[in-house]
Formats: sequence, structure tokens, C-alpha cells
Amino acid sequence: MSLPFPSLSAAEAAELIQNGQTIGFSGFTPAGAAKAIPAALAEKAKREHTAGREFKVGVLTGASTGKSLDGALAEAEAISFRTPYQSNATLRKQINAGQVRFVDMHLSVLPQNARYGFLGPIHWAVVEACDITPGGGIVLSTSVGASNTYLRLADRILIELNARHPSSLLGIHDIFEPLDPPARQEIPVYSASDRIGSPICVVDAKKIVGIVRTDLADETGAFDEATPVTDRIGQNVAEFLAAEMKAGRIPPQFLPLQSGVGNIANAVLGALGRSTEIPPFQMYTEVLQDSVVPLLENGRCTFASTTALTLSPEAMAKVAGDIEYYKKRIVLRPQEISNHPEIVRRIGIVSMNTAIEVDLGGNVNSTHVMGKTMMNGIGGSGDFTRNAYLSIFSCPSTAKDGKISAIVPLASHQDHSEHCVQIVVTEHGVADLRGKDPHERAKIIIEQCAHPDYREQLRDYLRLTKAGHAPLSLSLGLAMHRAFVRNGDMRGINWEEYR
Ligand code: COA
Repeated sequence: MSLPFPSLSAAEAAELIQNGQTIGFSGFTPAGAAKAIPAALAEKAKREHTAGREFKVGVLTGASTGKSLDGALAEAEAISFRTPYQSNATLRKQINAGQVRFVDMHLSVLPQNARYGFLGPIHWAVVEACDITPGGGIVLSTSVGASNTYLRLADRILIELNARHPSSLLGIHDIFEPLDPPARQEIPVYSASDRIGSPICVVDAKKIVGIVRTDLADETGAFDEATPVTDRIGQNVAEFLAAEMKAGRIPPQFLPLQSGVGNIANAVLGALGRSTEIPPFQMYTEVLQDSVVPLLENGRCTFASTTALTLSPEAMAKVAGDIEYYKKRIVLRPQEISNHPEIVRRIGIVSMNTAIEVDLGGNVNSTHVMGKTMMNGIGGSGDFTRNAYLSIFSCPSTAKDGKISAIVPLASHQDHSEHCVQIVVTEHGVADLRGKDPHERAKIIIEQCAHPDYREQLRDYLRLTKAGHAPLSLSLGLAMHRAFVRNGDMRGINWEEYR
């Protein structure tokens, strides 16, 4: 079909973007991320820098992206501001060195923050699509993220029309954007499979200044192989959920699952899929990883609501090859809806996310190593955890060859407080914190979840704390972290040295 929009090369599109502007890119994980224009923008930034001119842009996305977006722009030192989430190693270094301003944000609130004007003007939307109509109807590709909001808010639009994604994806998306207060009403999603919006984003066609044609696969990375530790964590979660069902605390038809990102989340989902005790389930989540495709295929997962199809090229080819089957079983929603607290609370989600560390009160740090080094960001974990029917956090009991305990007296940064963390799981067991007071919580977390190398020293910590509602020592709370910084190992701490 001939389109009334100028056809541009990626370099020509990048030339239009000026130093200091803010861009809302498509991409929620590398799925559906803009690729050609950000890579060309990085080249432009390098040329400008060589010529002695400043060139940096503000980068808004759905979540993390791929190497052509965060990777290339970070390598070119072209990012001034970044939100809401990222996982690129080069950009992480720049953020932690204070070279890039990074705002870590709950993913569900990003679109409304943009609409409310909290993030300043959005000059450009640079969005990947698998199809476009002459009137400005855009069929997004493998994610929605915040693209619908950026397309509506941005002054001008550039589209990457990617032939790698089949136009038969039309119908998998469900685009719905709530009105802002005081006009906001309920979001009428009552079950994971409800569709409430439009399959396309309709934009003001006059804002589309160019189309860049591409043929590029999503830059999705591979997962690490499962290990005995991640397998055991997955098994512990599956056994716990099966027992909850038997006890009547989860209804027999089960509840929709949300599963986080990363190696551990992938292992947990694999274990749930294999469990013979857990009935077929639905997912209401933000990212579908490879492990869900066989579950959709064999009927273990009956429906999945998400905002991103974060699939390896092989898994994506499988989905694309049988797209009509998968369109009946997958809906791609804006992240504002896939992660919306109202829906999470209403439909009773079991949330499963990953911790960097958990403290003896049950507070979780998911973002900052040793309290100050940003890993990725909070992502959607808070959207789900705070409103879940049942909220679960899992992690290996130790990191860095046992030198770091994931169970610590006091979390060095808090993303999820004791008030919303209900279940903690490591390879050693499950700590069920529901209905427990702070002293009971501390004991159960040590005995069920801490690595045996750390149990006695954590018990000693408890003995050293003075009576109070919570077992806390202000002087010793971060002593294990200080021991790691001082000696490179949290084990064998001499508490007296830190008094
Ligand atoms: N101290 C220092 N480093 C730690 C650590 C700790 N207490 N716990 C984990 N790490 C390191 C690991 O050693 C590993 O480092 P490496 O990349 O150098 O090997 C890295 O963190 C990742 O840990 P891993 O055990 O492989 O888990 P993961 O891939 O599942 O990632 C999180 C774990 C917490 C970083 C990741 O899940 C995350 O970013 N979560 C926050 C966002 C979120 O939950 N999103 C989902 C919402 S839907």
C-alpha cells in the first residue's frame, strides 16, 4: 500500500532530532524496541561530539530495551536523562557514575506521569510498527509499553516499519488509555482475557514526519541455563502454591500469575508449568518470556495478558508461524493496563518477583546493590506486589560465590516494604510471613531462607538487638554490608567490631 508519509533512511530521521530533546521510544524489554533510528542517532551523536558540539537526548521507553537503543546511545554518550527502567551494562555504569540522570519509576505510572506533564515535553515518539494505514492507524509490533501514550503526546512521530514482524499481529494488541482525574473511571478488565480497547493506535497523521523501513529481529538475549539453585527455588514456589490451593487459600480454579524478569523468574515459571498439582492457569503479567510459549502450546497456561513478547528469535518464529492460535491466547496491553494496581487487586494476582536482598523484617531490595549501585530498576514489581492477592519474592540465598548473603539484618535499600511482602523463597525453603509479628518474621526468615553459612551469625544479630516491636540494632543493621565492603565477604562477621 502506498503511504502518504515521507520514506526516510534511519540517518535522515536521526538528523531531525536535536540536542536536548526528549524522545519517547517504543520498547518494553528489547521486544518492539525502536532499533534503526536510535542506532543512527548514536552515530549522529558521535559525529557531533567529534565536531566539539554537545549532543544528548532524554530517553523515555516502556522499560529496558536492546543494544541498538540503550546500548548504542550509551556507547555514544548520548543520553542525558533516562526513565523508567534499563538493564544495559554500559548505561548502568554511566548511571552509577552520575553521568546520566536516571529516575527509577513504577512502570504502571510512567504513562500517566508523562500525561500529567511530570516529565516535561515529549518532542518525539519513535515507535516500531508492523503495519500502518494511510490515515494514521498504527499496528504496534511485539510490545505496547508506553508507545500509545508517546504517540498521542509527542509533537512529532517517526515510525520504524519493521518487516520482520508479521502484519498479522493485528488483533493481538488491546489499546486503552484511561482518562485523567477527575474524569478517570474504572478500567473494565474483570479477567485476564478481557479486551477493552482498540487493536490499533490511531494518531494524528499530520504528526507523522517519516517512515523508516527496517527488517530487524528483536535483540532479545538468551537466559542462563537453569542451575540446581534456580530449579530448587522454582520447585519451592510450585510446592508452596500447590499447598496453598489444598489448604483452600487459593481457589481451585487457581489465580492469575504474574512473573518477573530474569533467570530466576524463568525457572519459577518452568517449575509451575511442570507441576502436576497446579491446574492450568492464566497469566496477568508484563513480560512473556520463552518459558511461557510451550505452556501456551500444551494448555498449561490458558491465557496470557502482557505488554511484551520478550521471545528469542526461535520462540518468536514459533508464535508468528501459528499466529491465529496465539492471538486467541495472548493480549498485548499498554503497560498502564498490564500493570494497573486496580486490576491486580481486582482479579487477585499471585505475584512472583525477584529480590537482590531481603531483610529480617521482610523488606525487599530489588534495585540497589550495597544500597547505592543501581542494578536495573524496580520495573513492574511494585505495581504487582503492593496489590497482589499473594506476593512472593524469591532469590538465591547467597550471591558472589557465597560471599554475600541475600538475607541481611537490614536491607540497604527498600523497594518493597514488610507491609506488602508476604512470602520469601530461597533454595533452602519458604518463609511465610503472613500474620507474623516482626520477631516471628525475623526467626522464620533465618531458619527457612538463610544459607546455613549465615544462620548462626544472623541468630547472633537477633540476640544483640534490644527489645522493641521490631528487632533492630541501629549500629549493626548494615554491619554485614560494611563487612563485605571492608573484607570482600559477609561471612564470619565479628559483631563487636561494628558496635
Ligand atoms: N548483592 C550483590 N549482587 C547481587 C545480589 C546481592 N545481594 N543479588 C544478586 N546479585 C547479582 C547477581 O550476582 C547477578 O550478578 P551478575 O549479573 O554479575 O552475575 C545479578 O545480580 C543478577 O542476579 P541473578 O541471581 O542472576 O537474578 P536475576 O537475573 O533474576 O536478576 C534482579 C535479579 C533482582 C536483578 C532482577 O530480577 C531485577 O532487576 N528485578 C527488579 C525488576 C523486577 O522485578 N521486574 C519484574 C517486574 S514484573
